[in-house]
Amino acid sequence: MKKILIALFIMLFVAGAMVIFAETQQPSITKSYGVVSTTAYYKDFNEVFTGDWQKYGQKFTILQEKYFKNIYTILIIATPLIFLLHFLVIGAFKFAHSGEKIPWYSFLGRVIHWIAAVTFVIMLISGLAMIYGNLFGGGNFIRFLRYTHGIVAIVFGVTALILFVLWVKDAIPKTYDIKWFLVMGGYLSKSQKIIKADKFNAGQKVWFWLATLGGIIMAVTGYIMYFFAGTTDTLRISVMIHIILGMALLVMFIVHVYMGVFSVKGSLQSMIYGYKMPEEAKMLHNAHYEKLKKEGYISE
Ligand code: HEM
Repeated sequence: MKKILIALFIMLFVAGAMVIFAETQQPSITKSYGVVSTTAYYKDFNEVFTGDWQKYGQKFTILQEKYFKNIYTILIIATPLIFLLHFLVIGAFKFAHSGEKIPWYSFLGRVIHWIAAVTFVIMLISGLAMIYGNLFGGGNFIRFLRYTHGIVAIVFGVTALILFVLWVKDAIPKTYDIKWFLVMGGYLSKSQKIIKADKFNAGQKVWFWLATLGGIIMAVTGYIMYFFAGTTDTLRISVMIHIILGMALLVMFIVHVYMGVFSVKGSLQSMIYGYKMPEEAKMLHNAHYEKLKKEGYISE
């Protein structure tokens, strides 16, 4: 009995100390005090949560409504046009489809990649539909797309995480990646030259980091926005990150699909069947090709 009373006393003491501590941590405005004007009180009260950002409310709305939307419109039109021009002027890289098959992407990697691809496309379409909601008449249709965006994001987030773990070792930047960028991997010239690159070239590495880490950041900021999980400051910063990172993802995604489907013949097959042919590996991923040869994985 005595022990129970002592335990009860200690618990009450700790709880009391915690209440006093919480009280000192609380912003003074949220503590009740005297008789004040209700308007002034709520203004002060609101400021505790919105901070300085309250003053930027209107500017933020203009930024979001006018500039961000216009930038998206420009990116959606200009990026495919630039790559169409590239295709017409430079054309696709073609490689011989002969020789021994070099294993490139594991079965697990390919399955996860294609789930990421499908979910990403759904999110891209539903995300853009929300930006251009007015064009589609808003209402239930856009609300449905918003739910879809949120639910599909969970699957995409998981696939981005798995791809990160599976492929991060191939995406570590190397000094010769800088050289690759200086000549844009040779993609601006019609003649094909060997440019030193890993299993993922420098451009692919950029997409890797953006798509996986960027994808996870999109999921976190999206979660905060979806559930209003934070103060106004946190929400607005999340919106900014989500929108700006979204732009980078949009552009790089178009580049990625262009490279994988149109620019390098054989690239799409490698993500479907899991192997590359020696000529493509030798030309576009020379450092990795030489490494495989040295280790005896390929004989040519
Ligand atoms: C319709 C959409 C997509 C298509 C057609 C596509 C196509 C491809 C192809 C063909 C490759 C092999 C490249 C090569 O080795 O030559 C590849 C690789 C890759 N994909 Fe995708 N992909 C798509 C969407 C995505 C998405 C949404 C992600 C985001 C997680 C992603 C992440 C990657 C990564 C990290 C690689 C390896 C590095 C690279 O090639 O950039 N892909 N993809």
